[in-house]
Amino acid sequence: MTKSMHSKTIVITGASTGIGKACALHLDKLGYQVFAGVRTETDALSLQDASSDRLTTFYIDIAKSESILSATNMLKSTLKSVGLYGLINNAGIVVAGPLEFVPIDSLRSQLEINVIGHIAVTQALLPLLRQAQGRIINMSSVSGRVATPFLGPYAASKFALEALSDSMRLELMPWDINVSVIEPGPISTPIWTKSIEATKLMIDKLPQKAKVLYGPAFQAALLWENNIEQSMSKPDVVVRAVIHALMSRRPRTRYRIGVSGFVADIFARFLPDILKDWIIKRQRKL
Ligand SMILES: NC(=O)c1ccc[n+]([C@@H]2O[C@H](COP(=O)([O-])OP(=O)(O)OC[C@H]3O[C@@H](n4cnc5c(N)ncnc54)[C@H](OP(=O)(O)O)[C@@H]3O)[C@@H](O)[C@H]2O)c1
Repeated sequence: MTKSMHSKTIVITGASTGIGKACALHLDKLGYQVFAGVRTETDALSLQDASSDRLTTFYIDIAKSESILSATNMLKSTLKSVGLYGLINNAGIVVAGPLEFVPIDSLRSQLEINVIGHIAVTQALLPLLRQAQGRIINMSSVSGRVATPFLGPYAASKFALEALSDSMRLELMPWDINVSVIEPGPISTPIWTKSIEATKLMIDKLPQKAKVLYGPAFQAALLWENNIEQSMSKPDVVVRAVIHALMSRRPRTRYRIGVSGFVADIFARFLPDILKDWIIKRQRKL
C-alpha cells in the first residue's frame, strides 16, 4: 500500500451496488480513506473508475471465514498506524418465502450473511476501531422493527442485527466506540430485483403443496413489492444518515429513514399485535 493514509479511515462491506456503493463514493468525495468491500473484479473496477485514487477496493465474502480472515488481515496490516474510524456493516441479501417451506439452507445463508458475517467482521476489526475510537454502523431495515408475511427470514436477520447492536453498543461504551443502527424503508437498489429473481427460483423448486397452500397470498405479497417500486427513495437518504452517524458529535443509536421508518417505529413501539396484524393483512391484500 503506497497511498498516503488519511486519518479518517472507513471500511464498508457490500459496496458493489446500491446503498454501499453510494456510501463509499460519497465518503470518498468527503475526503475519507475508504476501503470498499466487493466480490468481483468488475465491481472493483467500476468503483475505482467512479472514485478518487484514495478509495481502495478489497475482496470480501462475509459468508466465508477464510475470506473474512484474509480481508481483515490485509486491513489490519494496512491500518496499523492509524486504526479504523468507521466500520459500515452493509452487505446483505433478502430471502423470502413461506416459513413452512423456505429451504433451511436458504434460511442459514440469510442469517450467515446478514447477521453472523457482520459480527465476524466486527470482531476482527475491533482492535483497530478501539485504536481510533471509531464508530460502527449496522445496516438494519424497517424489517428489523416489523416482521411481515413471507419476509420472515429477512426480518429475523434484521431483528437479530438490532439486538446484537444494542448489546454491542452497551458493551463498547467504556471505549467510546459508538454503535448506530440504520433503519431504511424501501430504497431503490438492485436488492429488489435480486430478491424477486431468487424468490422465483425458490418457488419453482417448492413442492406442489406449497404452491396450493400459499400461492395466492405469496403472489399478492410479490405484487405489493412491485407496486411500491415507484415510491422508493434513492440511496442518498441513507447516505445522509450514515454521514450523521459518522460525523456528528452525538450520533444517534437508531436512524429511522423516511415515512416508512417513522411508521415502522410507531408500529413497533405502540401498536398491539392484533391491530398490527389487521393493518398488514389489509395493506398486503392477504
Ligand atoms: N434497498 C432497500 O430497500 C433496503 C431497505 C432496508 C435495508 N437495506 C439494507 O441495505 C443493505 C444494502 O442493500 P442494498 O439495498 O444496497 O442492496 P444491494 O445493492 O443488493 O447491495 C447488497 C450488497 O451486499 C453484497 N453482498 C451480498 N452477499 C454478500 C456476501 N456474502 N459477502 C459480501 N457482500 C455480500 C452485495 O455484493 P454482490 O453484488 O457481490 O452480490 C452488494 O454489494 C442490506 O443490508 C439491506 O438489507 C436495504
